[in-house]
Amino acid sequence: MKYRFVRERENYEDYASGRVLLGMPGNPAFPVRLASEVFQRCAAIHRAQGRTGPFRLYDPCCGAAYHLTVIGYLHLEQVRRIVGSDIDPNVLDLAEQNLAMLSPVGLGRRMVQLTAMRDAFGKRSHADALASAERLRDRLRAWPAGQYAQVRLFLADATDPAALGRALEGEQIDIVFTDVPYGWHSEWQTVENPDAGREMPRTVHGTGTVWLMLESLRGVLAERTVVAVAADKAQEVVHAAYQRLQRLKVGKRQVVILRPLAHGGRTAHSRAGRV
Ligand SMILES: C[S@@+](CC[C@H](N)C(=O)[O-])C[C@H]1O[C@@H](n2cnc3c(N)ncnc32)[C@H](O)[C@@H]1O
Repeated sequence: MKYRFVRERENYEDYASGRVLLGMPGNPAFPVRLASEVFQRCAAIHRAQGRTGPFRLYDPCCGAAYHLTVIGYLHLEQVRRIVGSDIDPNVLDLAEQNLAMLSPVGLGRRMVQLTAMRDAFGKRSHADALASAERLRDRLRAWPAGQYAQVRLFLADATDPAALGRALEGEQIDIVFTDVPYGWHSEWQTVENPDAGREMPRTVHGTGTVWLMLESLRGVLAERTVVAVAADKAQEVVHAAYQRLQRLKVGKRQVVILRPLAHGGRTAHSRAGRV
């Protein structure tokens, strides 16, 4: 994939998972450069239609909200609100801690922890993490107080339209950016059987889990919403009620950017023009 926005590889050590921000244990962190590129592509699609932001972002499989928090930092001025949900209550605790670090108070709490660890163990890694946290704090301080992104988290199965409908009533969402379970380290789950990998109903297009998520999102998205889904290449990111705008292939991942079609769409699989 050719990066259009983040053309140069930058040093993202301040955002490394497990340093200041928290990652999901045993789960590879979403690449920072890719998160920034995808967010900027989504924002560019809005801008091409005259919507300049700042934007309201939602992730229905937010995990630790690591990539949402990274985007919140890298694009402070472009993000007004971040909403995340997940089926797993344990990860929402991590998500809460991460998203709290988008304000000086939450970041301050993490700095207290890192200082205590540095003093107790004298490890270089804690001192480095503290230095990163100070740089993140400087980023926040450069931004007017009171204009930090608002955050909200809730528990929901992303494939359950009723749950999303209830929880997102009244929410305006400009960008959905989700990193769905890949089956490498995290599996799709259901409320009925949260511990098992989900046997998904097959759809005409194939495996179907992402389809179910897109189907349940339809009820809560506006026509203008831009939806980016990161998945492994085996999962089909298709739904007849969405228009595919872009598909990026990065290593084992694909990222598909779509938008809901007006009136639910008529074609079996619309792949109309790149934006
Ligand atoms: C790859 S992880 C997301 C990691 C996240 N991008 C981050 O940066 O922290 C996928 C997440 O999907 C969640 N998940 C699995 N099945 C789900 C479902 N049916 N509804 C909502 N979330 C689900 C898992 O609990 C896991 O947290």
